Amino acid sequence: MMSNTEPVSSKPKEHVSWSDSYSLGVKIVDDQHKGLLNFVNELFNHASGKEDEERTYFKAVINEVLQYVKMHFSTEEKLMIMNKFPGYAEHKKAHDDFKLVVIKSVKDFDSGEKLVLEKFANFLKDWILTHIAKVDTQYAEYFKKSPTFKLT
Ligand code: FEO
Repeated sequence: MMSNTEPVSSKPKEHVSWSDSYSLGVKIVDDQHKGLLNFVNELFNHASGKEDEERTYFKAVINEVLQYVKMHFSTEEKLMIMNKFPGYAEHKKAHDDFKLVVIKSVKDFDSGEKLVLEKFANFLKDWILTHIAKVDTQYAEYFKKSPTFKLT
């Protein structure tokens, strides 16, 4: 339903803004990170404090969020493999662990655990920004130094 995906406020706020300091210098990855932050902003914009509304919105978008996250991780993992990044296994584990945490959260909410959309949005925001700053930067630094870096 349209009403499920429209922001609660008529003026959607940008709660977390893209900063050039997040840029890794790989356009496809930067674009996907911006896409992830857009999802986070949409989640914040639907945090009305009314659990029924939040639950309806969450159910409507969470699969799309998960598919986007999986697509993004897959993009990075292919780049790391293709460019023989030595930290691949550890990085992939961080991705796999995060996917499991999100999937468990979805199951818990489905089983009736209280959903606070703002809390969930904050969790995603913190994980994404920390992961970019501490983990994604590792392959970015490696790619910058690689004389044979390839995107495809
Ligand atoms: Fe951009 Fe490793 O996720």
